[in-house]
Amino acid sequence: MDESAPTPPMTADVLQPAGVPRSYSVRNIRIEPNLVLAPMEGVTDLTFRRLIRKIGGAGLTVTEFIASEGLRRGADKMEEMARIDPDEHPVAIQIYGRNPSAMAEAAKIVQDLGADICDLNFGCPSKKVCAHSGGSALLKDPELATEIVKAVRAAIHIPLTVKMRSGFDAENRNCPDIAWMCQEEGVEAITIHWRTRADLYSGTRAVDKIAVTKQRLSIPVIGNGDIVDYASAMAMFRDTGCDGVMIGRGAIKNPWVFQHVRGQMLGQPAVVVDAEEKRRVLIDYYESCRAWFRSDRGALGRMKKISNYFTHGLPYASELRTTILRSQSVDEAIGAVNRYFDDLAEWREKGRPAVE
Ligand SMILES: Cc1cc2nc3c(=O)[nH]c(=O)nc-3n(C[C@H](O)[C@H](O)[C@H](O)COP(=O)(O)O)c2cc1C
Repeated sequence: MDESAPTPPMTADVLQPAGVPRSYSVRNIRIEPNLVLAPMEGVTDLTFRRLIRKIGGAGLTVTEFIASEGLRRGADKMEEMARIDPDEHPVAIQIYGRNPSAMAEAAKIVQDLGADICDLNFGCPSKKVCAHSGGSALLKDPELATEIVKAVRAAIHIPLTVKMRSGFDAENRNCPDIAWMCQEEGVEAITIHWRTRADLYSGTRAVDKIAVTKQRLSIPVIGNGDIVDYASAMAMFRDTGCDGVMIGRGAIKNPWVFQHVRGQMLGQPAVVVDAEEKRRVLIDYYESCRAWFRSDRGALGRMKKISNYFTHGLPYASELRTTILRSQSVDEAIGAVNRYFDDLAEWREKGRPAVE
């Protein structure tokens, strides 16, 4: 080695493991960075997606799932769930259901609403959805799944994607077959959450079926499940060869996760998010909930849900969570958060007084 040669700069290529892609395309839509905000019912409405977009780092956002039957009936709630910002692109609207013609009609509405991508939910484990053969129940009913894909594909011209679990249960981890069918019928990207429906949110990390699917398919495959930081994102890329990763709960706990992962992929120094920034973002989010929900009660419910995740890792977080959970109004919750962060600043300087 020539000791006198200048040290090469630390480029992203040096830091990022070889072969990890930085983007993928769904037809003509480039997803860059290849980090996707997961659809989450009761979470990824317009207010939360705005928060994520403002912080940055996600290449694609997805709405919470929307019932195809409700959307085609023109239910106000469904239309509200499907609302997107004019500058929120690329964005996918996700729909679910079991009736092929209702799904096709809903997909047309999704297209008319200006979504870049229509995403079909083949993964929801909830009893309510599965009882009607929607969501992950479709993994057990390949014929119906095929009919749905065919009907939707024929109805819309925008790109169509599908999100699924790796199977219905441990004996039926058939996502490679369902994904293959989807590709053959014109679906243009597949996201796979490694868990089966039976796993719900536990189980041992088993990403092998994502890897098999990726090997078989020529369309992009996005890996999902338990990604919370750069290391877990890189592990998903490395272990499956996937084209992109999707992050769900990790983004509620830490809305900066996309920015962090992206930054590290590019070899940038880690951005430090201090307590004041967390306060600002949480209060901003509370205010946007207040503006979005029609009732104080609705806003408060959502704020409590998000705070349960968001406050993880903060000092004395359980006390803060309890105070927020007991709040009777938006103002009371905002007051509790402000008091907590004021106290935190003081505790940092003077130490926390002993609790009597
Ligand atoms: C509160 C919550 C709501 C969810 N709602 C949806 C949904 O509407 N559509 C969907 O496809 N998946 C939904 N999921 C599953 C997530 O999109 C994702 O697949 C799952 O949480 C695993 O990713 P994670 O480990 O990064 O959270 C939901 C998950 C959570 C925690």
